[in-house]
Amino acid sequence: MTTAPPTALRGPITDTEILEIREDFPILKARVNGHPLAYLDSGATSQRPLAVLDAERDFSEHHNAAVHRGAHTLAALATESFEDARATVARFIGAQEDEVVWTSNATEGINLVAYAISNASLGRGGEASAALRIGPGDEIVVTEMEHHANLIPWQELAARTGATLRFIPIDDEGALRLDLLDQIVTDRTRVLAFTHVSNVLGSITPVGRLVARAREVGALVVLDACQSVPHLGIDVAALDVDFAVFSGHKMLGPTGIGVLYGRSALLNALPPFLTGGSMITTVTMETAEFLPAPQRFEAGTQRVSQVVALAAAVDYLTAIGLSRIAEHEAVLGRRLVEGLSAIEGVRVLGPAAGRPRVGLASFDVAGIHSHDVGQFLDDQGIAVRVGHHCAQPLHRRLGITSSTRASSYLYTTTDEVDRLIAGVEQARTFFGVNS
Ligand SMILES: Cc1ncc(COP(=O)(O)O)c(C=O)c1O
Repeated sequence: MTTAPPTALRGPITDTEILEIREDFPILKARVNGHPLAYLDSGATSQRPLAVLDAERDFSEHHNAAVHRGAHTLAALATESFEDARATVARFIGAQEDEVVWTSNATEGINLVAYAISNASLGRGGEASAALRIGPGDEIVVTEMEHHANLIPWQELAARTGATLRFIPIDDEGALRLDLLDQIVTDRTRVLAFTHVSNVLGSITPVGRLVARAREVGALVVLDACQSVPHLGIDVAALDVDFAVFSGHKMLGPTGIGVLYGRSALLNALPPFLTGGSMITTVTMETAEFLPAPQRFEAGTQRVSQVVALAAAVDYLTAIGLSRIAEHEAVLGRRLVEGLSAIEGVRVLGPAAGRPRVGLASFDVAGIHSHDVGQFLDDQGIAVRVGHHCAQPLHRRLGITSSTRASSYLYTTTDEVDRLIAGVEQARTFFGVNS
């Protein structure tokens, strides 16, 4: 769990505090199409505070060097910052330092696990990896609400190994069909991969329920924590998951840096995904021996300035307090759902008003394509995401091909949410669908 905020910072984030927070984000002062920017696309990528921008620049100006290699002072300083950042991120998610692997984003983290399992299935990794091999007759289970990043790597793993991919369906409201859990997750299941928070529905998966079933059948649990780490925070030990992935750019950090958490014993049993420099002990012309985790999964020259900046983002979030951020966004999520649902012809996807959700809402406006809704809002300086949000099967199941998504973060104001709601109402008039 994240460090508790100082006593003075308990309770909801106040309006004054939000204005102070916004001062830390230069981009939020931008005007777009003649209007103040209302950035409601943090689910896609968040904005960065000065502390993060400064950390990256400071590293580049004063400490830049390749880590774990040089004998010179700068290299030692860079290595220290790189490993300190790992400790910061590990503490943030309740992991040990050697359980945090740097990746370029969450997508790479999931591919890393899937490819490492297929390498084990090819007989790489020796006896330690034997228990992780999968093949024909084995099953991998995902859910119908997954982002493509947590679907396609498993489709491909199934194709490479002969295993079968199955999924837990959702109902018409987008809720997971947990009544089917025991039927779908069985003794044949070797991997259960699911999202903690849906990037389309804003719903929160009952992780404990799914983990308990995975434990009963001896399946590995892979948690897509892309939308939960930034907004709710996670404790991997309390959640009892085997792997978890998330991206720095969705949690105030830079692009190009992501995190894979893996239980130490599992990471050390898995053969590597990428091979090359910096991940070995001894190399001959025929063979190589690999370092223990996390280095065995960090081949090649590392992205150090991004790692350092991610640690600065974690410090920033920790100082405010994840529980307070979650509380703030829950209020915004409720306001979004209530406001949008009250508009005729607008269908909000996911949990109904009053049910738990994060500060994100995707919606369909009858008679107007989501791209037109997005364009109309952009003309008013309101930035939202449109399309299928990398979740085509989910949209198909809900009977639509695309939606408009508004997503908030710690810097989002109620005024911005209200501008969005008013903008959607105006769009209906503009496109002549309100008669
Ligand atoms: C739930 C979820 N999973 C995975 C991803 C993929 O993240 P990235 O593109 O940073 O790898 C996203 C990003 O939108 C997401 O929202």
